[in-house]
Amino acid sequence: MKKVIAIIGSAQKKATYEAVQEFERNLKSYMDIDFEYIFLKDYQLEFCKGCKLCFDKGEEFCPIHDDRDLVIDKMSHSDGVIFATPNYSFQVSASMKNLLDRLAFIFHRPRFFGKAFTSIVTQGIFGGNSIVKYLSSMGQNLGYNVSKGCVLKTLEPITKVAQDKNSREIKKAAKRFYKLLSKPVPPSPSLFRLMMFRMSRASMKEMLSDEYYDYQYYKEKGWFESDYYYDVSLNPIKKMIGCIFDFMGRQMSRQK
Ligand SMILES: Cc1cc2nc3c(=O)[nH]c(=O)nc-3n(C[C@H](O)[C@H](O)[C@H](O)COP(=O)(O)O)c2cc1C
Repeated sequence: MKKVIAIIGSAQKKATYEAVQEFERNLKSYMDIDFEYIFLKDYQLEFCKGCKLCFDKGEEFCPIHDDRDLVIDKMSHSDGVIFATPNYSFQVSASMKNLLDRLAFIFHRPRFFGKAFTSIVTQGIFGGNSIVKYLSSMGQNLGYNVSKGCVLKTLEPITKVAQDKNSREIKKAAKRFYKLLSKPVPPSPSLFRLMMFRMSRASMKEMLSDEYYDYQYYKEKGWFESDYYYDVSLNPIKKMIGCIFDFMGRQMSRQK
């Protein structure tokens, strides 16, 4: 049975929670799921201090000892994750942003390959679409396969028309997520993702050395030689473009 977790960035158990519950019901209409709710308000997560020890030396050197690793452990032991947040001032809520800051070292060393990611954003009026885009890109940076999330208008008193529209959006998002969850292998990367991988590894190779954990990690994983983070067969065009990205990455790092 697949395991899915929903990470919820609202201190209220209201609109966002209800949306996730409806998403869960929809998802369970397709397959049996072990579904777990993670309310960030119940986890002790301090603000990042900005020391960058997680980047340079490794995440175990983080001076903060709180529930970060507990959340990461839950992400590691699930097949899919839903990041659900209210729109607060045209962004994710502070607790959700704080979690992303605390996970930022994983952007350097992505790990959630083959796992599914989506998002649910609730809002009064406006701004949610860019938040969904932002969360999609965060999911990809963490290594997930991402399906487009949904934006729901939850301004009270909510009309029947608005409620029905939200239900339709949730249904479509759950179906997209289910399809992704059922895919057996991680996909071939988009050109953008390939570029991100090739150029960041080129700059790492040029600018870092064995003293840096990112460098050691790339070396251990064989990422300085591989086509991509994981085993994937790139078509000849992508292979060629990949080499161009390697070259561009090297040139750009040498000019710095
Ligand atoms: C501090 C705060 C800021 C908000 N900012 C926005 C906003 O910028 N745009 C918007 O459409 N709704 C905004 N809202 C409305 C919430 O996104 C909306 O009520 C959401 O559904 C609340 O989810 P919850 O019931 O799970 O807490 C804001 C609400 C709060 C409390």
